[in-house]
Amino acid sequence: TGFRLVNGSTVCSGRVEIKVGDAWGTVCDSHWDLSDANVLCHQLNCGFAESAPGGAYFGKGTDSVWTDTYHCKGTEPHLAHCPVTALGASQCSHDNDTSVICSGRSESLRLLNGESQCDRRVEISLRGVWDRVLDDEWDMNDANVVCRQLQCGVAEKAYNPPKSEQGMGPVGLRRVQCVRNETHLTLCDNSTSETFQAGIAADVGVICSGSRQIRLVNGTGHCARTVEIYYNGSWGTVCDDFWDLPDSNVICKQLGCGHAISATVSAHHGEGSGQIWLDDVNCSGNESDLWGCPSRGWSQHNCRHKEDAGVLCSEFTDLRLVSDSDCAGRLEVFYNGTWGSVCSNQMSGVTPAIVCKQLNCGDGGQIERDFEYGAGSGSTWLDHVACSEQHGSLWKCPSDPWDPKSCDNQAEETHISCAGKKSKTNSDPIYRVSKLSKLHRPGEVTCHERRTDARAEWRSDKEDRFSKNPS
Ligand SMILES: *[C@@H]1O[C@H](CO)[C@@H](O)[C@H](O)[C@H]1NC(C)=O
Ligand SMILES: *[C@@H]1O[C@H](CO)[C@@H](O)[C@H](O)[C@H]1NC(C)=O
Ligand SMILES: *[C@@H]1O[C@H](CO)[C@@H](O)[C@H](O)[C@H]1NC(C)=O
Ligand SMILES: *[C@@H]1O[C@H](CO)[C@@H](O)[C@H](O)[C@H]1NC(C)=O
Ligand SMILES: *[C@@H]1O[C@H](CO)[C@@H](O)[C@H](O)[C@H]1NC(C)=O
Ligand SMILES: *[C@@H]1O[C@H](CO)[C@@H](O)[C@H](O)[C@H]1NC(C)=O
Ligand SMILES: *[C@@H]1O[C@H](CO)[C@@H](O)[C@H](O)[C@H]1NC(C)=O
Ligand SMILES: *[C@@H]1O[C@H](CO)[C@@H](O)[C@H](O)[C@H]1NC(C)=O
Ligand SMILES: *[C@@H]1O[C@H](CO)[C@@H](O)[C@H](O)[C@H]1NC(C)=O
Repeated sequence: TGFRLVNGSTVCSGRVEIKVGDAWGTVCDSHWDLSDANVLCHQLNCGFAESAPGGAYFGKGTDSVWTDTYHCKGTEPHLAHCPVTALGASQCSHDNDTSVICSGRSESLRLLNGESQCDRRVEISLRGVWDRVLDDEWDMNDANVVCRQLQCGVAEKAYNPPKSEQGMGPVGLRRVQCVRNETHLTLCDNSTSETFQAGIAADVGVICSGSRQIRLVNGTGHCARTVEIYYNGSWGTVCDDFWDLPDSNVICKQLGCGHAISATVSAHHGEGSGQIWLDDVNCSGNESDLWGCPSRGWSQHNCRHKEDAGVLCSEFTDLRLVSDSDCAGRLEVFYNGTWGSVCSNQMSGVTPAIVCKQLNCGDGGQIERDFEYGAGSGSTWLDHVACSEQHGSLWKCPSDPWDPKSCDNQAEETHISCAGKKSKTNSDPIYRVSKLSKLHRPGEVTCHERRTDARAEWRSDKEDRFSKNPS
């Protein structure tokens, strides 16, 4: 319910503290990234995040340390709009308190209607109110001054927004002519005072390089699916030619999703739309952005959307009940690329109901104590899952940290039966991966045997033999 920055050198920097109920608590640095920090800075009217130093940079808090993990994209208006999870989060102490250093208030210039704080329509504040900027000859020199002033990098595009995106209010600045390197828009030549300039009617817009972003589309949850990049004002995809683990790793790290488990090709997670922005991407894996990797260059490609690239990152999570029927079985969660069981130690009675609802299996359920769905053979990911009525999904329940050896023995594994039956809407193709068995004609394969561990091999196999040499 509350958010504050404590013990910083300015009002726009400090240790992050969040109020839950009546209690203030700090946030663990391992659960917090620059996108989360950006949302907080914006929300506190402090510009954008310059850095998010951990390790109690602004001193240690004294009350709780929250285990919540925020999954912000960076463009949400408020932290309360970001998805939050708690399940499996690592334990933290006040040594790990995170902080943010925000850029500070940018009181004289802002951009509206964009995907970030670094794109679209320009407004200026000269007298404490936001006014429009109009210019029929708006160019890249002018746009560059705006981008630089907002610390948004360099201009990718200078334009006049279409009618639907134009402003309504009073005009602050008309006909701006920047030469090259002015530090503020107000230092550029202008015609504000000349009434005969009143005919100039077009708002101005910019797309700065700081608006570039990555997202994963075509699915629920974060940390897996088809890759899309926001560049020069529009979303587009990446082609799968030479797409591999180091490339995916850059994306997983960039999105705070851990490391890459697999690089998916041939629009495995569904086709994206728009431009195809990058092709022949060749990251070494340590780049901080996908566009920092060698490639053919923006929109240089020989692809179609059926070749869209995707990723599966280690922080991607999923859940299922394992048995012959849909709505009963051994509870398993997917994490770090592997399905594993959940131990039932101290599990509350509301937990099965939460799981059943999440799986579209009705409103109630119970823990089965006779273990009729058999023992799991792999990891046991979680223990001491502490759900209560307030938790809308299993992911929001606190628990011990992720650990592939959580249970002491198989009698601790959780078996659940739900009150309802599956409705047909919840099928998720991502882990139903088939093993390549037989080649009929070039480019055509028969698959058998549903497996969960064969994806990467099968995909790269297919990629090498068929996509690269279609003949
Ligand atoms: C405030 O931050 C400084 C470091 O910037 C630290 O040395 C000091 O202990 C902190 N004080 C409190 C009360 O957290
Ligand atoms: C918390 O900080 C300590 C000391 O720096 C470190 O050893 C530990 O790994 C950190 N824990 C997490 C979860 O990052
Ligand atoms: C951005 O797109 C515009 C056309 O909308 C184009 O003129 C410009 O060259 C592009 N800029 C970059 C940096 O790709
Ligand atoms: C801007 O460019 C002019 C001429 O190129 C130069 O004299 C001036 O020092 C530059 N100003 C800044 C702030 O870089
Ligand atoms: C307009 O440009 C003049 C210099 O030509 C400058 O003194 C003035 O501050 C500018 N006005 C605004 C509102 O930017
Ligand atoms: C994937 O997502 C994009 C953007 O949200 C959408 O345009 C496209 O239709 C989706 N494709 C599939 C196969 O769902
Ligand atoms: C990728 O880069 C490596 C070295 O940086 C180079 O050896 C390799 O040929 C490149 N691959 C492609 C497909 O460009
Ligand atoms: C990444 O690592 C390679 C060596 O593997 C090195 O040449 C390159 O400079 C590094 N790039 C960055 C951005 O750190
Ligand atoms: C996740 O898998 C990687 C190897 O792919 C391993 O190094 C790491 O320890 C695993 N993490 C957990 C929590 O099991």
